[in-house]
Amino acid sequence: MKKRYDNESQGYDAWFGFKQADRRLIGQYSSVFENICIDPGIQGFETAANELKRALEAIFGRTPGLVPQPASSKGTVLLRKAAMPDNEDAQLDDEGFLIRRCKTENGAALTIFEAKTGTGALYGVYSLIRHILCGSFSDDFHIAENPAIKIRMLNQWDNMDGSIERGYAGKSIFYENDMIKKDAGRIEDYARLMASVGLNGIVLNNVNVHEVETRLITKDYLPEVARLADIFRSYGIKVFLSINYSSPVELGGLDTADPLDDRVQAWWDGKAAEIYSYIPDFGGFLVKADSEFRPGPFTYGRNHAEGANMLAKALKPYGGKVIWRCFVYNCRQDWRDRVTDRANSAYDNFIPLDGLFEDNVYLQIKNGPMDFQVREPVSPLFGGLKKSNMILELQITQEYTGQQRHLCYLAQMWKDVLDFDTYCRGKDSTVAKLLSDPCDGVHTGISAVSNIGDDMNWTGHDLAQANLYCFGRLAWDPSLMPETIAREWVLQTFGCDAAVADTITGMLMDSYHIYESYTSPLGIGWMVNPGHHYGPSVDGYEYSAWGTYHRADHEGIGVDRTVAAGTGFAGKYLPPNSTIYEDPKTCPEELLLFFHRIPYKYMLKSGVTLIQHIYDSHFEGAKRAAGLVERWKSLEGRIDPHCFSRVLARLEEQASHACEWRDVINSYFFRKSGIPDEKGRTIY
Ligand code: GCU
Repeated sequence: MKKRYDNESQGYDAWFGFKQADRRLIGQYSSVFENICIDPGIQGFETAANELKRALEAIFGRTPGLVPQPASSKGTVLLRKAAMPDNEDAQLDDEGFLIRRCKTENGAALTIFEAKTGTGALYGVYSLIRHILCGSFSDDFHIAENPAIKIRMLNQWDNMDGSIERGYAGKSIFYENDMIKKDAGRIEDYARLMASVGLNGIVLNNVNVHEVETRLITKDYLPEVARLADIFRSYGIKVFLSINYSSPVELGGLDTADPLDDRVQAWWDGKAAEIYSYIPDFGGFLVKADSEFRPGPFTYGRNHAEGANMLAKALKPYGGKVIWRCFVYNCRQDWRDRVTDRANSAYDNFIPLDGLFEDNVYLQIKNGPMDFQVREPVSPLFGGLKKSNMILELQITQEYTGQQRHLCYLAQMWKDVLDFDTYCRGKDSTVAKLLSDPCDGVHTGISAVSNIGDDMNWTGHDLAQANLYCFGRLAWDPSLMPETIAREWVLQTFGCDAAVADTITGMLMDSYHIYESYTSPLGIGWMVNPGHHYGPSVDGYEYSAWGTYHRADHEGIGVDRTVAAGTGFAGKYLPPNSTIYEDPKTCPEELLLFFHRIPYKYMLKSGVTLIQHIYDSHFEGAKRAAGLVERWKSLEGRIDPHCFSRVLARLEEQASHACEWRDVINSYFFRKSGIPDEKGRTIY
């Protein structure tokens, strides 16, 4: 990375420090990478070639020569356009690449590098760098890859005043004072980080579109948005904007935004033409409609298909997409109402519309039916929807998972989601399969709310960079294992000291379960302070209108979502999931309180009662959080001292905050149940 903000000790270089290449490796492969040869006649490979040169320079400490053809005596990397007739090449898609080691006729090392497009070549370059830095480049190196999921994007929840909704790493890198920032250096570095893990789309503004952001699609801002699109384009990334459904009223002076009104359609048609005149490859719109007070088609008595299709028709001539969020629920619920269930809402709203959407509409579905809690079942829209284009929405920013003050490596949570078997095409119809191998005529993608801001280290907590990294890697290849990705990230970020790699990888791998164990128990979720959502407040959302209840009383806790006696949510799944969730005996225990109301003395499979499990997991979780501090301390002197102290401070805060969680939760349930801890530990 260009040293714009300099100082690798500030964490700015992220996994692009290149400082750590193993000396032995450098010795072994230095002669392989002496020259770069770019096949004449290929266009659009410039960024890839530059990136390759820059990386080789940084890793091997010398500038590779640029040669017109592979040299007879020196190792060359040959960058060329995939030659179609070759079997292997034919299987490359537009974003795929192939790298193979061989030799020239004279026996010199040759690394052949093929792609059909500049973007494919760029992904290949980043892959090669990763393999070199992770020690997995070899003499017989040969890989060919295509991304598993076609759309892989980030959603920025940035506002134009520079704030970020649910942002925990400073201010926006895109906006300040209602303007797009002039200094694009940081934005380019972000594009580069994104491309390095294979991401190909970005929504530039918050889903909650306020007054100023509504004007992003006007001539006041479009030239500037176009400038951002230029930056992202050179890294293979398309830009999208979140729009305000009421724009025809707020910008167009119409008295309605009714999707079935011809004037509204005409207004959006004109708007699309205008946007594409600035940005010919504009990605499209992300829309939060009829959700948490945002306007939408309901105002006009229209459904979501009617609402989305109108926009889709406007964008279709240009190849644009409408990404329509399914996060739709009644946020003015009475807590006494036990029939309405927020978990049912997205399913009930969208299943009846399956098949009615235009082919450039994508339904964007949060991974769980509630809202990014540390543990939720997978949304039954996955498996339920058969004919609609779908995008899985994840949240990298740690709104409910410790706000980047706690360590919580999210790959494991996401892997559980991706590996969930929906059974919609028989056994082994995992979410990952539905996304990577969709039914005929269905298109899919994966997106996530970004966790970056203008903090020098991007993510506030240095180790939270791993979450951005692993999102991209899983989107590229959902079959990767969380540990593999964690180790890759650690090796590139911290170098190849085995003790460092093992310790940090181990900490990342344990962190999700640690966080889960001292926060809300067994899938019930919430129990956070309202508004900012940091820290424990068991009843914080219990008597609110947001549909987020745990229903704890002196006898037990949990929401009955069975078909037999509850809200019926368990029945939204296809068998056998529906039957598994319906019965507390078969329901996975980590989700027990999500699906069932359980008395405190209920015996869990582990042989302890529910109340004892709550006590045990909270004592244990707080202890393990303290253990993270000790594990990190063992690295003192082995990693950059600034990074060491930044992370140490966060881990110490986490350890003490975990005690607060432990005490608040344990006291609450001790007080409610009147049942003491069998082990006689102090409950405050
Ligand atoms: C959560 C989050 C909001 C956000 C919303 C959404 O409710 O707290 O800040 O706007 O999700 O995804 O639209």
